Parts: sequence; structure tokens; C-alpha cells
Amino acid sequence: MPVIKIHGMIDPHTHLRDLDWSHKATFETETKAAIAGGYWAVFDMPNTAPSTISDALLSDKLKRIDRVAHCDWGLYFGASQADNSAEYEAIARRVCGLKIYNNSTTGDLLIDSSSMRERHYRAWTTDRLIAVHAEGETVRNIIDLVRKYRQPTHFLHISSEYEIKLLTAAKEDGLPVTVGVCPHHLFLSEDDLPTLGAFGLMKPELKRKSDARALWRAIRLGIVDIIESDHAPHTIEEKGSGEPPYGVPGLETTLPLMMQAVKDGRLSLQKACDMVSLNVQRIWRITPLPKTYTVVDTDHEFLVEGSKLFSKCGWSPFEGMRVCGKVLEVWIRGHKVYDGEQILSESGFGRNLFGFVA
Ligand code: NCD
Ligand code: ZN
Ligand code: ZN
Repeated sequence: MPVIKIHGMIDPHTHLRDLDWSHKATFETETKAAIAGGYWAVFDMPNTAPSTISDALLSDKLKRIDRVAHCDWGLYFGASQADNSAEYEAIARRVCGLKIYNNSTTGDLLIDSSSMRERHYRAWTTDRLIAVHAEGETVRNIIDLVRKYRQPTHFLHISSEYEIKLLTAAKEDGLPVTVGVCPHHLFLSEDDLPTLGAFGLMKPELKRKSDARALWRAIRLGIVDIIESDHAPHTIEEKGSGEPPYGVPGLETTLPLMMQAVKDGRLSLQKACDMVSLNVQRIWRITPLPKTYTVVDTDHEFLVEGSKLFSKCGWSPFEGMRVCGKVLEVWIRGHKVYDGEQILSESGFGRNLFGFVA
């Protein structure tokens, strides 16, 4: 395979941490990791500490990330169980979407009643989409809300054959739903848990090999729209503790893993590239910027080494795996921001792709 150019890579599912969780990662370290992974932009989830659930908290976070980000970015607003939908009008034009947590995971944003989920669906009437963490039966509940309110909804980190079945039917019904899948659910399974221990714990959890096969099949059939990393760094100490938190990093391994999958004949090069760029731009309605692209040597093979990553956490669930696809250069808005070794953009260079900051 040749040296290729991918235009405008975006990861719409990352947890950059910072704020009160700066010990795990910061906007500065993780936007560098994003660039090293080939990305133009990353969208950050609202389950930070504090959670992004009010106009004031959003403004603080916007100001902080705007000051330090090395790549372009977007922020999600979080729906809260205490019903913060009165804030929607004030915040909608500054965010990449609304995030609703419907099953428990890191942070305290769980909405477990279907009536409260419906209140958020009724109140969110902007043209920005809703992104959902929904697993198993909960996927069915959210599809019912999409059927009723017709609000474009992106299903994050879909991980099972059952969920794929539900979403295939929803797409056949013409509902405005899109599907994201993460590399860990494609390349790992519950069989890896004895080796990985806490470093293989994330939500949704690793499933059977047959589920991973169903995800690959759904990619080939065009049911899966995008590959998202769900980059969720925690420290090695936290992962090694008695109560390890859920989540694994992925910004710097997603592209090489997908290029390896192309080499292994699992999908076409075009599809792999579209799923980390064009399809994401289409779903979030982003116009690609001129001179914003990534140069990748798709022949360059290497082994994943967590300690060599830019991410502050310094580990990877894919440690030791053979991958290919070295990022040679990243260009954003005509500026070379990565030369294959070093991040060249200044802290604060990154811009909000969704409106203003203050
Ligand atoms: C994420 C995190 O750590 O913020 N954890 C995870 O296991 N995926 C939250 C999430 O995406 O559910
Ligand atoms: Zn999630
Ligand atoms: Zn996530």
C-alpha cells in the first residue's frame, strides 16, 4: 500500500479529562496525542469533573480548552438527571451536540428513567445531534425516542451483535440514526481479559468473539458509519487499584489498527479512511477546511508501545500488537502541526468547530 492523504480526520468520541481530573490527562496532552494519532479535531465528552451540565460550566470549559488546545475541537453538553434542559437555548450554538448517558459508566451523568430521557429528547430541538451511550435493551428505548422525535441520534461505541440488529432495523425504517464502533470492540474480546486485567475494562465491556465478528460484518454492510476511539485515559495506578475505573486510551492506535485491518483484507482502504474523516464530517455537518489533512505511510509496520504515546496515561490495551500505518505529517488550516516526531502547533492554536467560545 502507498503513502496516502486523509482529509480532515475527526474523532468525535474522546474524554480529554483536564479540569479536576488533570492528573489523568489534560487538554494540552491529549490534543497532542490526537495530532500524533493523525487527527485534525476531537470532540470531548461532558463526563468531566465537574460535569458539563450548565451554561456557566460549559463557558469555563470552553475558555480553558480554547487557551491550550493544539488541534481543533468541539465540546458536548451533558443532559442531567436533574433536568437541565432549560439551559439548552443558551448553550446549543457553542457545542457539537447533546450527550445522554443511559447506562452507568465513568462520571455521574446517568439517566436511567425513560421519562427523563424523553424530556431531554423533547427539549433538544436544535439542528445539532444527540449522542447516546446506550447498551443492550437501552438501545431499543432510545430508538423509540428517535422514532417519536426524529432528532438525529448517534449511537456511540456499539459493541454487540444484538445492538447491531436493532440499529440495522432502525436504519431500514429510515430513522435518522448513525452508528459508531471502537477499535477495542473490534480487535479485542473477553478472551483477552485474563491477560489485560483492569487494562481491558471499559464500558461497554469486551464481548464475545462472535460479537466482534458481527461488528466487522456490519462495517462491510455499511451499517457502521464511523470508527471512534472512546479515548478514556486513566492512570496506571488507578487501573492497578482495587476498584479500577472503566475506560481505555485510543487516540494514537485507532488509525494504525484500521490500516492493519485493511492490510489483513477486512475492509477497503477507502472505507477505513472515510470512517475516520468524511463520514464523521457528514454526520456532524462539518465543512472540511482547506489544507487540513494527514499523510500516512500505510506500509510502515510497528508494535504498539504505551510508554511511547503522547497521551498522559502512558499505556495502551493494544500493547505489543503489530500495526501498520505511520502518521508522517498532519496539516491543519495550512499549518504543519506534526512532522512524524514532534507536535509543531502552539498551545492555543486549536479552534472550536462549533461556534464561538465566550
Ligand atoms: C468512559 C470514561 O472513562 O470517561 N469510560 C469507558 O469505559 N468508556 C466513559 C464512557 O464512554 O462510557
Ligand atoms: Zn460511553
Ligand atoms: Zn466514551
